[in-house]
Amino acid sequence: MGALDGQHVLVTGGSSGIGKACADRYRAEGAVVHVADLNPRSSDELQLDVSDSAAWAALVASLPPLDVVHLNAGITTPGRSPVGSRGAPLSDVTDDAYRAIVGANLDGVFFGARAVLPGMVERGHGHVLVTASMAGLGGMAGDIAYTTTKHAVVGFVRSLGATLLQAGNTGVCVSALCPGFVDTPLVPADAQSFIKEMGLPVIEPARVGDAAMQAIAAHSHGSQWIVWGDIIREHDASPIELT
Ligand SMILES: NC(=O)c1ccc[n+]([C@@H]2O[C@H](COP(=O)([O-])OP(=O)(O)OC[C@H]3O[C@@H](n4cnc5c(N)ncnc54)[C@H](O)[C@@H]3O)[C@@H](O)[C@H]2O)c1
Repeated sequence: MGALDGQHVLVTGGSSGIGKACADRYRAEGAVVHVADLNPRSSDELQLDVSDSAAWAALVASLPPLDVVHLNAGITTPGRSPVGSRGAPLSDVTDDAYRAIVGANLDGVFFGARAVLPGMVERGHGHVLVTASMAGLGGMAGDIAYTTTKHAVVGFVRSLGATLLQAGNTGVCVSALCPGFVDTPLVPADAQSFIKEMGLPVIEPARVGDAAMQAIAAHSHGSQWIVWGDIIREHDASPIELT
């Protein structure tokens, strides 16, 4: 018996890196996994631009009821080094690059959660899991727009978590994964060398799959899961319950 036997799980950005590793883990736990990606790599994966709200409505209508939705798709700022940039702080970020990163990293999470939550609340069951980042919990030098979107996504998860908590026993929860550096195409080889030279860990994507399973099992409201080197633990900032 797997922990997700028979459950339907959607993973955005599931064709590569962290999303692919999590999709593999969910399958190993018995889930029926639906992968949606801007650039599907196989015929059983669905095409979706997470920043397109109309496309979200069509996707959700085409799928069976979803138990877990992992909003994972994300990018770094096009044309900018993910870490250690010595360039001008903001002047090299074009309007198009800014819109692209906000679209994928923030709109994709907001539109995705908004599309799937009503069904989950109606069924009294569901988990929205968001891949944020350690860059959502602290300032990271280099890609300022990326860090901005990841802080926004953590704020989204905290606020939605508090709102679901306040609503009572909906059976639905939201949480965030906050990995440090992970060996995926998002972090090019030169950036990975720079990170390792600073003595910081670069982990395998499967480790984020371990954290995802812990977050899903915990089923807590608005929690953020730090995934750093060998460490997987819940961040201690709880959502504020306003009653
Ligand atoms: N790699 C890291 O060090 C690291 C650390 C912390 C958080 N993250 C986050 O993990 C998530 C996955 O990143 P990754 O490292 O696996 O990168 P990746 O590039 O390997 O995978 C990202 C996937 O998202 C897809 N994607 C991009 N834009 C999309 C869009 N608009 N609509 C649908 N799909 C889209 C890409 O096609 C790709 O398949 C991202 O949100 C990223 O910010 C990565």
